[in-house]
Amino acid sequence: MIDFESIEKDGAAELSAAADLGELEEVASGLLGKRGSLKAAHRQLGALAPEDRVGAGRRLNEVTERLRAQLAARRSELEVAARAAALRADRLDLTEVVPASVRLSTGLGHLHLVTQTRDALEDVFVGMGFEVAEGPESETDWYNFEALNIPPAHPARGMWDTFYLELGQPETAVLRTHTSPVQIRLMERGELPIHAVMPGRCYRRDTPDARHLAVFHQVEGLVVDEGISFGDLAGTIETFTTAYFGSDIHSRLRPAYFPFTEPSAEFEITCTICHGGGCRTCSGTGWIELGGCGMVDPAVFEAVGVDPERWSGFAFGFGIDRCAQMRHGISDMRALTENDVRFLRQF
Ligand code: DAH
Repeated sequence: MIDFESIEKDGAAELSAAADLGELEEVASGLLGKRGSLKAAHRQLGALAPEDRVGAGRRLNEVTERLRAQLAARRSELEVAARAAALRADRLDLTEVVPASVRLSTGLGHLHLVTQTRDALEDVFVGMGFEVAEGPESETDWYNFEALNIPPAHPARGMWDTFYLELGQPETAVLRTHTSPVQIRLMERGELPIHAVMPGRCYRRDTPDARHLAVFHQVEGLVVDEGISFGDLAGTIETFTTAYFGSDIHSRLRPAYFPFTEPSAEFEITCTICHGGGCRTCSGTGWIELGGCGMVDPAVFEAVGVDPERWSGFAFGFGIDRCAQMRHGISDMRALTENDVRFLRQF
């Protein structure tokens, strides 16, 4: 007689004992292979009396099917486990902190000075209660100019040498020449009041020199609330200046013209090279220009549907790269884009 029960019981036990795919395939060939126990049982069928053979054959088929099903189940179980183990082994710890000493000696990188500067500026403004917002680098003519009270063919467009994008109709698209269009995007949402800074990359068709880059960075600021005055603007700029550059660096405002603010001003800070005494960098004046600012023009409020009878606001915008230059005494701004590691490693 063929002992089907033991064949099935032993086979099932071996299959579930297989600890990995390799072991499982060995067990499988031990059971189902040419010299396996099922094949041996099959050969024994021939020795049975014809009346027993049919029943035994059916039994053998049933046992074989059940063992095959168990094999398939165990195989997919072990495959899942193997995949999970491989993933665990491949996992990178992206939270690992590399100490500066190791970083420098192995040549691993770090955040670029401009990024560090942007982060530090954001921290200062967040500390003053501002939120941080961002907008796209390619803008339509409407956001970059028109909504900012600069209609087509307005002479003020000459203040920004613009890269135009050839995207075709329906609208003219540009690489934003300043971060001011993000003001429009924020006000358009209609959620007032607003106290936000908007850092980002800007583009101008300028030839790079010691103080200008064609691809550069600005931080825009916008406050829209009830009863906002020019004094709030001046106070905000002075607070930011001393917080970021140090308590011996101050700010002053000089009348200027921008289409989107009225009145407008340029803001200057104490020259960080000579600390106000007068030097070549500041042309002997003791002051360095950092950016523009002013009270939001009613025409801008009108473009975005903010009621100027109820709300008033101020805005400002200045260069991040220029801040890095002033704070670290970088004589030529082009060093920020040249990727010379001897320069980058200093920060
Ligand atoms: N967008 C101006 C520029 O890039 C700078 C500026 C001036 C921004 C006055 C302002 C502002 O928000 O009120 O030249």
